Parts: sequence; structure tokens; C-alpha cells
Amino acid sequence: MIERSLVLLKPDAVQRGLMGKIICRFEDAGLKAVGVKMVWVKTEFAQKHYAAHLEKSFYPGLEKMITEGPVLALVLEGLHAVETVRKMVGPTEPKTAAPGTIRGDFAHHSYEYTDKKGIAIKNLIHASGNIAEAKEEIKLWFEDKELHTYETVHEKHVF
Ligand code: CDP
Ligand code: MG
Repeated sequence: MIERSLVLLKPDAVQRGLMGKIICRFEDAGLKAVGVKMVWVKTEFAQKHYAAHLEKSFYPGLEKMITEGPVLALVLEGLHAVETVRKMVGPTEPKTAAPGTIRGDFAHHSYEYTDKKGIAIKNLIHASGNIAEAKEEIKLWFEDKELHTYETVHEKHVF
């Protein structure tokens, strides 16, 4: 039941100075950061990360957005971490995302607006969609030696 999920604080989150606030939410929920690094993604890597979306109409805007500045990549570990993180992140469109979710609290972009403008929806954060995706994404973003095993108080109070 202890899983790992890949989370990216996208360039809009980094440039808005929201890294600390967003990481704080995950720490408060008892999730453990086992890998953390800042990466400025280039086109080829963006295509690998978003391989499933390459043929979609929104891909060009998405590639432009994800390569426009550094992202903060995190691997978070915890019980049902993949599902738990997705719940905290909220749905893809910030306008639809409920208050209390990261996308709902810190953004309000809408598909109606981004489709008209031909840009990607700015929703601050990426989180693995399911366990298989998490495994693939963690392998793509982190080397084994960049992932750390250590104890937190959550081992006693949360796990
Ligand atoms: O990130 P999430 O898993 O919620 O959504 P996705 O369907 O896997 O899409 C990946 C990313 O593409 C989203 O987070 C958006 O940034 C972007 N996207 C977009 O700009 N316009 C859309 N119509 C759909 C997705
Ligand atoms: Mg996705």
C-alpha cells in the first residue's frame, strides 16, 4: 500500500513562488519527499514525459509551457500516495477544481479561455495518474541514487 508518485511543480508554480506552499501541503498530509530536484526540461524530454499526449491538439501549447522555465520534480511516498496526491491536486481544469485542492486554491484558468488563446491550461502541478504511470515517470525523472530511504515521524504516527 506504500506507493510513490511523481509530482512536478510546473514553471507557473515556480515562477509564482508557490513551491514552498505546495510542498507544505504534502508534508502536512504526512507524505514523505524521497526525491527532489529542479530541472529545466528541453523539448525531447517533454515529449517523453507527455508521450501519451503527443498527438493531442493541446500538445504544442503544453510543450511550450513545460519548457518555459525550470520545474521542481518531487517523488512523494506514502499510503496510497498516487491516489492521495491526485485528490490533493484536483482535476485538470483549475476553474472546475474545488477549493481545498491545489489547483482550485491557487489558480482559476479555464479550458474556454485556453482553447480560444491556443495555450496550455496553467494548473501549476503534474501528478502521476495511476500506479503504472507513477513507476514509468519516476524511472524517467530520477536515477535510483537520487531517491532516498529514511525515517520520518510518520512511520510512527501515520503509517
Ligand atoms: O495533468 P493531468 O493528468 O490532470 O491532465 P492530462 O490530461 O494528463 O494533461 C496533461 C496536461 O496537459 C494538463 O495538466 C494541462 O497542463 C495540459 N492540458 C491542456 O493544456 N489542455 C487540455 N485540454 C488538456 C490538458
Ligand atoms: Mg495526466
